[in-house]
Amino acid sequence: MMDWTDPHCRAFHRVLAPHARLYTEMVHANAVIHGDRAKLLAMDASEHPVALQLGGSEPALLAQAARIGADAGFDEVNLNCGCPSDRVQAGRFGACLMREPALVAEGVAAMIDACDVPVTVKCRLGVDDDHDWDRFVHFIDSVAAAGCRMFVIHARNAWLQGLSPKENREVPPLRYDWAYRLKQERPQLLVVVNGGIASLEEATQHLDHADGAMLGRAAYHDPYLLHRLDVAWFGGALRSRAELLRAYRPYVDAQLAEGALLKHITRHILGLFAGERGGRAFRQVLSEGAHKPGADWSLVERALALTESFAAAEA
Ligand SMILES: Cc1cc2nc3c(=O)[nH]c(=O)nc-3n(C[C@H](O)[C@H](O)[C@H](O)COP(=O)(O)O)c2cc1C
Repeated sequence: MMDWTDPHCRAFHRVLAPHARLYTEMVHANAVIHGDRAKLLAMDASEHPVALQLGGSEPALLAQAARIGADAGFDEVNLNCGCPSDRVQAGRFGACLMREPALVAEGVAAMIDACDVPVTVKCRLGVDDDHDWDRFVHFIDSVAAAGCRMFVIHARNAWLQGLSPKENREVPPLRYDWAYRLKQERPQLLVVVNGGIASLEEATQHLDHADGAMLGRAAYHDPYLLHRLDVAWFGGALRSRAELLRAYRPYVDAQLAEGALLKHITRHILGLFAGERGGRAFRQVLSEGAHKPGADWSLVERALALTESFAAAEA
């Protein structure tokens, strides 16, 4: 997710959810080819398995970017066919590609030829007022015929006119039944459901009908949910928030030693105590202190101590 799932965020989520598959922010193929790769493709060794999400529509460029991504160590390359922003439409990629199945198939085939990691697609159910199962499944079948086996379905349409990207994640109604039907009618494909999944129970229910669930906003705003999910699905002991936070410390210290700023790291952990007593104090201490020169792990310990004192007062 753009501006959210950067390497600091992914390294944190990896601590919380050892088994989850993590995804980068979308990076345009051109940026991968011509841009600052050290920054755009930065990834910590702890992140695996991690997928690089590409934007773009030009098969040769997508192929080149996919190869670069796989060579950089990404475990999967995912093509974005779901982003509705104006900028993306102007560049003829993202959600508007759902109306160009042949071009997407060509791009995916070129990417598969160019790299040796799985190439997957994230898409919507359609664009604007397309509510046509046959059209949706034609898109999927065309791309599957090119060799794509896994589809992440953000189970709503993208409205390309008149809605902001934020509204496009909320207003078009969710239709999980289309993702389920896809899995039923195309059992050979891996179908991952995405969109509006807000709890452990909801995520788990999707597994009755599909191969996986992808969580975006809920995982970011309430990252402990990721941990609870990982334990529920894969086993292991539930660890406390404080324990998980301290398990993240070696990464943070190493990053600070390399010149990273604490504020760029702690912004991803603000929600760790979401809904908990003291959660607001945790956020506040970090938000107020992390931008100060020289801020380091001791600030996180201070935030934690204050949060724990609230919880202790309640007990
Ligand atoms: C800040 C933000 C950035 C996003 N960036 C991307 C992106 O780069 N690529 C993508 O496929 N989806 C992106 N999305 C959409 C999410 O991946 C997801 O499909 C959508 O939010 C619905 O899932 P959710 O309800 O679990 O959040 C973004 C969403 C948000 C809130």
